[in-house]
Amino acid sequence: MTIDIEKIRADTPGIGNVAHFNNAGASLMPTPVLDAQIDHLKLEASIGGYEAAAAAAERCEAIYASVAKLIHAEVEEIALVENATVAWDMAFYSLPFEKGDRILTAEAEYAANYIAYLQVARRAGAVVETIPSTNAGDVDTRALEDMIDERVKLISITHIPTNGGLVNPAAEIGRIANAHGITYLLDACQSVGQLPVNVGEIGCDILSATGRKYLRGPRGTGFLYVRKGLLETLEPPMIDLFAAKWVAPDRYELRPDARRFENWENNYAARLGLGVAVDYALDLGLETIWQRILDLSSNLRARLSEVDGVELRDIGTVQGGIVTFTLDGVDSMAIKEALSGQGINVSVSHPASTLLDATRRNLPPVVRASVHYYNAETEVERLAEAIGIIAAKREA
Ligand SMILES: Cc1ncc(COP(=O)(O)O)c(C=O)c1O
Repeated sequence: MTIDIEKIRADTPGIGNVAHFNNAGASLMPTPVLDAQIDHLKLEASIGGYEAAAAAAERCEAIYASVAKLIHAEVEEIALVENATVAWDMAFYSLPFEKGDRILTAEAEYAANYIAYLQVARRAGAVVETIPSTNAGDVDTRALEDMIDERVKLISITHIPTNGGLVNPAAEIGRIANAHGITYLLDACQSVGQLPVNVGEIGCDILSATGRKYLRGPRGTGFLYVRKGLLETLEPPMIDLFAAKWVAPDRYELRPDARRFENWENNYAARLGLGVAVDYALDLGLETIWQRILDLSSNLRARLSEVDGVELRDIGTVQGGIVTFTLDGVDSMAIKEALSGQGINVSVSHPASTLLDATRRNLPPVVRASVHYYNAETEVERLAEAIGIIAAKREA
């Protein structure tokens, strides 16, 4: 399927103001996503919040089916939450760890996840270990295989790290985890909406994702997948009257489905926006989206590599839409600001967000230009030219 870029851009009001390369931060929402939220907020204001939720009940329920379809899961395996971190935390902190249990993770692991490993290691006496990377920067699956023993209780990986194009070999890792009966948690925060994600093919037991990044949904939305068979065995770290029923003065019963990881109150307008964002991505097709992101990002890498003084910082055999680089002699924050003055949005990834990888590769703060399918070739060109001008001024 080809992408109708004109229609997509016509659907994206933000492109009139900015060339947006901060999609790994939060993408520009398309109009249908924006409208779904505004319409629901107006309904809340005009008939009441509970009444508006009741009126939208069918559409609210359909969000679960859309998310399930997106990642090839079942409706009962999906929980809708506030962000990827809540999704990840609710599942991770449900896992029982004991002294000596081993948690295996990747070098390019996201800070929030790693901090949680450290807390659990301190509390339970578990051990956190990092799987080495190949020369290309991917999780080394042979090294992973060699690390497996009966004490490994969790393999927990970031699919696409926050600080660069690397796409980790998620399905190969899943094959190893499944062969040894080890729980496999995948942080798919930067991958869902960017490329096809199929939980069955990947073999993960748990997956967390966010709405505002590559899905182009609203801020403050995210979701969790937990495989049936595992989810019934997990007691969430915090529960309320939505996650569980109070059935006797001294007893509660958890919901049987993944919604045991949710709580009662939530932002219905944002949720409805998320549902529309997921449907929008499904209509375009994830393979189509991925091919366009691959084209645009490899084009950007090629253009940037022609600029004197630019060092591309991306690793990985497969590299996705998150393009990172530094410019010799110019601070990355100064680049971000200079670009912002020209209506070009990028972000800066600081070493603390992926401390192990940044330390191993001796990374300074890097400019992160994250490309999405709705970016135009001309915008890629504009960004590369702007970097070329900053580089030339530096030499003058
Ligand atoms: C790889 C990765 N995981 C998790 C998160 C956290 O997502 P959220 O802010 O939706 O909780 C981020 C956010 O940048 C991320 O890049």
